[in-house]
Amino acid sequence: MKPRILRSVGLMSGTSADGVTAVLVETGAGIKVLSCRTFPYPPKVRRAVLDAARLRAPELSRLNMELGGLFADAALAVMARGKVDVIGSHGQTVWHGPEASPANTLQIGEPAVIAERTGATVVADFRPGDMAGGGQGAPLVPAFDAFLYGQGPMKALQNIGGIGNVSVAGKGRLWTAFDTGPGNCLMDLAASSGTGGRLAMDVGGRLAAQGRADERKVAILLKAPFFLKPPPKSLDRGSFGAPYLARHFGRLTRKNLPDVLATLTLLTARSIADSYQRFVLPGRGIREALVAGGGSRNPVLMALLRRELSPLPVKVSDLSGIPAMAKEAACFAWMAARAVQGLPNNCPAATGAAGPRILGKIVSGRKAF
Ligand SMILES: Nc1ncnc2c1ncn2[C@@H]1O[C@H](COP(=O)(O)OP(=O)(O)O)[C@@H](O)[C@H]1O
Ligand SMILES: [Mg+2]
Repeated sequence: MKPRILRSVGLMSGTSADGVTAVLVETGAGIKVLSCRTFPYPPKVRRAVLDAARLRAPELSRLNMELGGLFADAALAVMARGKVDVIGSHGQTVWHGPEASPANTLQIGEPAVIAERTGATVVADFRPGDMAGGGQGAPLVPAFDAFLYGQGPMKALQNIGGIGNVSVAGKGRLWTAFDTGPGNCLMDLAASSGTGGRLAMDVGGRLAAQGRADERKVAILLKAPFFLKPPPKSLDRGSFGAPYLARHFGRLTRKNLPDVLATLTLLTARSIADSYQRFVLPGRGIREALVAGGGSRNPVLMALLRRELSPLPVKVSDLSGIPAMAKEAACFAWMAARAVQGLPNNCPAATGAAGPRILGKIVSGRKAF
C-alpha cells in the first residue's frame, strides 16, 4: 500500500529535557517540513523532568498531565489554526530500561490532553510496542533514516541530542544504527552545575572554546565498556548523568568549568569518531556524515568532529532539506502518519525487534458522533 499525503505534526521532547520541538510536515512519498519551533520548558518543569525517575506516583501522574498540556500548546502553535490529519508525540522519557527483564520504558505527556485540545488524532507511546516485540525500543529514528536516505549513496546520519546516535543508510537499506555515547547531556549538566543553574547549556560552545581539554582523561573515559561494545547498543541518559560527572570531574566551579567543558566536548566528539572508525566506516564506502540535533548548533563540537573524522565530510543536515533541529520531531510526525494508515514504522534491524510493527497508541481526536 502506498502512503497517502497527510499533514502531520510531530512533537519531540528528548533526553536533553530542553523543551518540546514541534514541526508541521507533509508526508507522502517524501516529506516536506513546513514549520519548526522549539518551546523551552519552564525551569520548574525542566527540573521535574530531569528528576522524574525519582518522583512518586502522584507527582509523576501530575507531570504526565502537565506535559500533555505543554505538548498541546506546542502542537497548536505550529498548526496555526490549520487542520492536520494526525499528531505524533514521542513524549518525555522518564525511564528507559532495555536491559532489564522484562525490558521496559516509560514516556509521559498525556496524549489524551493533546487530542482533546487540538481535536486531532494523536499517536504516542511508540517505544513499548517495539519492546513488546522483543526489541530494545530504541533507536526509532533509523526507520526514518531508511525512508529519507535509504535509496541514495551511503551516508552516516548522526544525531546529537542528549545522547548521540548514528544510522548508516544508503544503497537500498539501513545497515546499522546505535547510540554512540553522550551527546550534549554531559556538557549541559556541567554548564548548569558549574554556574549554579544560570546556564542550561554552553551556548555556541563559548566556554569550551576558552578551556583546555584533558586528552589523557578523555582516553581513559573512552575505555569504558559501552564504547567498545559492538552494536546494536542503546544508552540511557542516566549512564551519563550527575553521578558520572561528579565521579570523574569532582566539584565544578566557574574557574574549572571551561576546561571541563573543553574535555567533555572532546569526549563527545571523539566517542562519535571512535564509533565510526570501529563500527561505521570500515568497508562501507560512506561518502559523508550528516549531523542533526542540537549539537549541530555547537560550533566547537562540530569543529572537533570534523577534525576527528577528517577526511570524511561532516555536514549539518539542513543542507539536505531536513532542518537539523526538526529531524527527530519530523520522524515522529512520519511515524504517526504511517501508524494511522496501518503501515509498519519500526526498524527491526536497529532495535532487534522480531519483525515489522506498527508502533504507537492511537487516541481519537473526534468529539462528536
Ligand atoms: N546554540 C547552541 N549552542 C550549543 N549547544 C546547543 C545550542 N542549541 C542547542 N544546543 C544543545 O542541544 C541540546 C538540545 O538538542 P536536542 O536535539 O533538542 O536534544 P534532545 O533530542 O535530547 O532534546 C541542548 O540541550 C544543547 O545542549
Ligand atoms: Mg530537545
